[in-house]
Amino acid sequence: MPKHITRLLLVIVLAAVLAYVGKQWLTVESFYRFGHYRGNSVAEIASDKPKYATPKSCETCHAAKYAEWSRGVHNNPEQGKVVKCEVCHGAAGGRDKNPNGYNSATGAEHPKNLKLEIPADTVRQCTLCHEQMPGRPLQQKQIVVATHAGTQQCKVCHNVHSPRTFVGALASTSKPGNPAAGKAIAADCAACHGKLGISEDASIPSLAGQTEIYLADAIKAYKKGLRKDETMMSMAKDLSDSASENLAAYFASLTCKSAQDGETPAAARGQVLAKKCASCHGENGISKQAMWPSLAGLSKPYLEKALKSYKAERKNGMMNNIAKNMSDADMADLASYYANVACR
Ligand code: HEC
Ligand code: HEC
Ligand code: HEC
Ligand code: HEC
Ligand code: HEC
Ligand code: HEC
Repeated sequence: MPKHITRLLLVIVLAAVLAYVGKQWLTVESFYRFGHYRGNSVAEIASDKPKYATPKSCETCHAAKYAEWSRGVHNNPEQGKVVKCEVCHGAAGGRDKNPNGYNSATGAEHPKNLKLEIPADTVRQCTLCHEQMPGRPLQQKQIVVATHAGTQQCKVCHNVHSPRTFVGALASTSKPGNPAAGKAIAADCAACHGKLGISEDASIPSLAGQTEIYLADAIKAYKKGLRKDETMMSMAKDLSDSASENLAAYFASLTCKSAQDGETPAAARGQVLAKKCASCHGENGISKQAMWPSLAGLSKPYLEKALKSYKAERKNGMMNNIAKNMSDADMADLASYYANVACR
């Protein structure tokens, strides 16, 4: 055999031996016991304190929040979609923060010595999963922040622990009333709101067929001076809560009539703008939430006045934010649209 071939083979054999010895020397014994892992580390990791405590663990101390969350849309185990408490509030175990390093059973722990974060910026947090972007799975509902919420915090409208529930819907304390009892005391209202709740004066709203809880809340708001209108404040000042609820039940039970003032070109433009209102006021202005008013069946002058008043004195978190950026022309067109659609 030529000398240089012998040397080459020698080098190859040497390299192979070195590689084998190296592998034996550097690889721990338990490697490959559980696949491509150091088997002994499993026991080590298992003996660590868990960093995440799971939602169930929060139940004992935060029963109300847990109940809200577990009934809400963020807890949907059938579909494998669960947004756990600690996704938003951070880990309830603080293993990593321990100065002894990773392997520690002594890290901080909520509520003993670890305070969890109350997220202040919900826009930042909720858009992590819900901001519209190409490639994001559509099953996880997406929004365009600018048109959906503007600069508002998501928690202004959404209950953060059960986000398909809306904040306003929880705020009302009005109960459904008794329509017959309401009818008996409704005579005073007819002079302005019409005999069967259908107003003949366009500046006064019709009440027939309006959502019940909304009507009760509105009467109470006049009584408390939260909604300012001299006439209605004096009408409401002596009405008890149950009288208000009964009146609301009576007017809600009556049949509405569309205002229909026939301004169709403006209404067509209004219809496009009204897409933004449908989520709360219903398709075509017929609300499905007893808390929130239907707009179909109201007159153009009243609708326009109501929208303008949300820019100034009438207080409602949702509507103030919506009206803030609306031009007078948009308000007029929206009013034309809702004044012209069928109310049932
Ligand atoms: C053993 C009872 C207990 C358990 C279990 C518990 N908490 Fe708490 N939690 C508390 C107490 C007590 C406070 C109030 C502590 C304070 O104000 O400093 C608190 C406060 C909070 C706060 C508000 C923090 C603040 O600054 O006011 C959040 C958020 C919170 N807990 C979330 C959770 C989550 C999420 C879990 C489950 C992973 C959980 N907690 C489990 C007792 C508990
Ligand atoms: C999608 C995110 C999210 C999830 C999931 C979530 N929270 Fe919250 N939580 C929030 C936000 C945001 C706030 C602050 C609300 C506010 O400022 O009105 C909050 C507030 C709290 C508070 C403080 C309330 C207070 O007023 O002091 C507690 C306690 C709490 N959450 C517990 C829980 C528990 C327990 C779970 C799971 C069962 C949970 N949260 C799940 C986002 C979330
Ligand atoms: C970690 C990701 C994640 C975060 C953070 C998150 N969500 Fe969700 N959200 C989801 C998923 C996933 C679903 C879908 C659950 C389902 O379809 O059953 C969902 C569902 C919803 C829905 C219901 C959509 C529908 O189908 O009608 C609303 C509303 C919502 N989230 C609002 C919020 C708000 C408000 C916040 C912030 C407080 C938030 N989410 C934070 C993942 C997230
Ligand atoms: C002005 C009130 C308001 C604010 C602020 C708001 N939302 Fe909503 N959001 C709604 C209403 C009302 C709906 C219900 C729409 C429906 O059911 O058709 C909704 C629906 C959603 C949905 C479900 C969309 C779908 O296609 O079904 C998601 C996701 C959502 N919001 C996330 C957010 C996030 C994230 C923020 C904060 C950046 C936010 N929302 C702020 C009122 C609001
Ligand atoms: C003297 C005329 C007058 C009388 C009488 C009157 N109202 Fe009114 N009502 C008005 C006017 C004007 C408005 C619109 C006020 C505004 O813009 O806030 C109104 C508004 C309302 C609203 C709010 C409707 C909405 O869509 O927001 C309710 C509810 C209501 N009235 C109930 C009653 C009830 C119940 C009675 C009888 C106890 C009554 N009103 C008697 C003039 C009257
Ligand atoms: C996030 C839910 C939400 C959205 C979106 C929304 N509204 Fe409203 N709107 C409400 C609530 C809640 C009220 C009742 C507020 C109150 O009690 O003053 C209301 C009241 C009104 C009223 C007063 C009705 C009356 O009888 O006095 C008008 C008019 C109105 N909205 C128009 C609109 C228009 C137009 C849009 C779309 C550009 C819109 N809203 C979008 C929630 C919403």
